[in-house]
Amino acid sequence: MKTYNVLAPGPVNLHPRIQAALSLPMIHHRTPEFDQILAAALAGLKNIFSTQQHVFILSSTGSGGMEALLVNLLSPGDDVLCVVSGKFGERWRDMAKVFGAQVSEINVPWGQAIQPEKVEIFLAQHPNCKFVLCQACETSTGVLHPIQKLAAIIKKYPQTCFLVDGITAVGSLPLPMDDWGIDGLVGGSQKAFMLPTGLSFVAFSQKAWLMSDQAKTPRFYFDLRKEKAANEKGETFFSSSVTLVRALQVSLEILFEKGLVQHYAEVQAWARWTRKWCDHLGLASFTDRPSPSLSTLVLPETVNGVAFRHDLEEKFGITVMGGQDQLKGRVLRIGHMGFLTNEGMIHLILSLHQLLLQQNQAQALALDPILLKTQLAESLRA
Ligand SMILES: Cc1ncc(COP(=O)(O)O)c(C=O)c1O
Repeated sequence: MKTYNVLAPGPVNLHPRIQAALSLPMIHHRTPEFDQILAAALAGLKNIFSTQQHVFILSSTGSGGMEALLVNLLSPGDDVLCVVSGKFGERWRDMAKVFGAQVSEINVPWGQAIQPEKVEIFLAQHPNCKFVLCQACETSTGVLHPIQKLAAIIKKYPQTCFLVDGITAVGSLPLPMDDWGIDGLVGGSQKAFMLPTGLSFVAFSQKAWLMSDQAKTPRFYFDLRKEKAANEKGETFFSSSVTLVRALQVSLEILFEKGLVQHYAEVQAWARWTRKWCDHLGLASFTDRPSPSLSTLVLPETVNGVAFRHDLEEKFGITVMGGQDQLKGRVLRIGHMGFLTNEGMIHLILSLHQLLLQQNQAQALALDPILLKTQLAESLRA
């Protein structure tokens, strides 16, 4: 089977220890072995979320986690404010509408971060607003939103909960839920956790959790009151995703062995390194508010972005993502999460260089490939 260096903003390269854990023989989820794994994973997630509250492990992709936050808190007719700054903001807005919320939105131009004052003004004018929804990182543009500032504003409204889609942020950068005052936070396995797609992680603040009994949205699979009761007995309510949870425990071990501060610094360092070298090649950042978890890079106008991304995959074995909607064919999105190696990252920059040379791009033509390879290696030794 052909293998790829998966440098997308999720899914990502699996850590070899995780890959090994994924190939272990099956065990049943009602066994003492699995009970221990589940307990360790649930405890470790609290550390990543920086919360004293329970963190749930759901057998769903990240979107299921977003839905779980909504159905456990929302009642039809509730006033919701959604920050829409790209595709994932649109998704959460649409989801809230499906569940009967009265949704207002603040539209942020793609590539920009929300100005916190806009939320402040909205809340002052709409004191009945019950939820503010925002991505921490809007993966379609690569923007990092000022979550701490937003949380500080929303905290002033005791009846309003701040729900954050941290799917491309949790585990890549600090989002201390309790300290900042985030009321609902969701993460996804195929991002900074270096796991396959298929798990999401959600946590509620005390304030949010108190709302779950009043919430009138019908829910069954995602009724997390039942899951909480099962977790308190050391179990999951439905069958557990044994293989993924077992790999999650290994992922958390890897992160804690390294230390979260060091891990976040490494994600940030790869982001800066990638952007610096891409800039030399003539690929500037699409946003001046980039998240450490991914870089969105603008392709020269004469380059067909769809073909470029395809060539990178077919000729060089590297998977990155292109743009969506208005950015289709115009940008590359490169993730800085998952298992990254020096060789893999040098190969990425050299491959981008090769493709830009083939397109006669001036900045690439000005760089000698042999010299570039040496400079890249030196930059990683420094
Ligand atoms: C910010 C954000 N929200 C939501 C999602 C949806 O997650 P999933 O595809 O796992 O359902 C993604 C996926 O890339 C994402 O980046």
